[in-house]
Amino acid sequence: MATLLITGAAGRIGTALRPRLTAAGHHLVLLDTRRPDPPVGDRERFVEGDVNDRAALSAALAGVDTVVHLAGIPTEDEWDTLVAANVTGTKNLFEAAASAGVGRVVQASSIHAVGRVPEDDAAPGSVPGDRLPRPDLYYGFTKAAMELLGGLFADRYDMSVVSARIGAFGERPSSRRALLMWSSPDDLARLVQATVGLREPGHHVVWAVSRNTGSPADLSAGEAIGYHPVDDASAVLGADERAALPDEDVRFLGGGMADLPLGRRSN
Ligand SMILES: NC(=O)c1ccc[n+]([C@@H]2O[C@H](COP(=O)([O-])OP(=O)(O)OC[C@H]3O[C@@H](n4cnc5c(N)ncnc54)[C@H](O)[C@@H]3O)[C@@H](O)[C@H]2O)c1
Repeated sequence: MATLLITGAAGRIGTALRPRLTAAGHHLVLLDTRRPDPPVGDRERFVEGDVNDRAALSAALAGVDTVVHLAGIPTEDEWDTLVAANVTGTKNLFEAAASAGVGRVVQASSIHAVGRVPEDDAAPGSVPGDRLPRPDLYYGFTKAAMELLGGLFADRYDMSVVSARIGAFGERPSSRRALLMWSSPDDLARLVQATVGLREPGHHVVWAVSRNTGSPADLSAGEAIGYHPVDDASAVLGADERAALPDEDVRFLGGGMADLPLGRRSN
């Protein structure tokens, strides 16, 4: 049992992780600029604040063992907006964690850190979790920069840092792309549990996707730190549901988003 700080806890992934992590016996501190829904329950405390607000971070980090860093802009946007939230926010989070003596961080990177890898170079099981970044968007660039910050702080402060390349998150797979790159809520909770168990300092860039049949993701970097995903998108959906899924551009690992205009808010 540990005390975890979840930044961006009011978002989609944070909301899905909360019941799974409290059910595993953990205490949670929820940090977000907006109030979580559902409201805080047993073993949870909420700190309203921004990751760029040092006072809020220091209040949130009291008594914390491990940080689950999800706060940020989850899609393409203007450069300055993305860099302030995703890069500067992450730098401030790591600085605050280091000065509070918190030794473990798992942070949300993205498939878009490698989104411009051509599909022709992405045979099943062939893309390592720590493949050299090849971003498809300014968003993906900020995720690659977050990974570099993870390495810097792991080296300088002997922290255990996991940069988790999340694919297509959802309760259920919702596109053909997600059949290959789905990140199920239960598997993301398993990755948090693996991070809580890390005892050695170091930085690990891993695929935070499920065990999807035919996926290009090579899961071995995650398995080396105890992340053993269980779910398979193709097994979750029936044949009719799979056939009815919307098609997506598959020329690049980042799917349809890999061709969006740079620097323009995408939704
Ligand atoms: N959803 C996906 O499929 C997916 C895929 C890959 C990576 N990710 C990454 O996972 C993380 C969470 O994604 P999500 O889908 O839950 O996004 P979301 O937008 O639903 O949640 C993000 C949360 O962060 C909060 N936030 C934003 N800026 C903040 C700041 N400066 N300080 C404090 N809180 C702030 C928002 O209020 C929001 O509640 C993001 O970093 C995203 O880039 C998500």
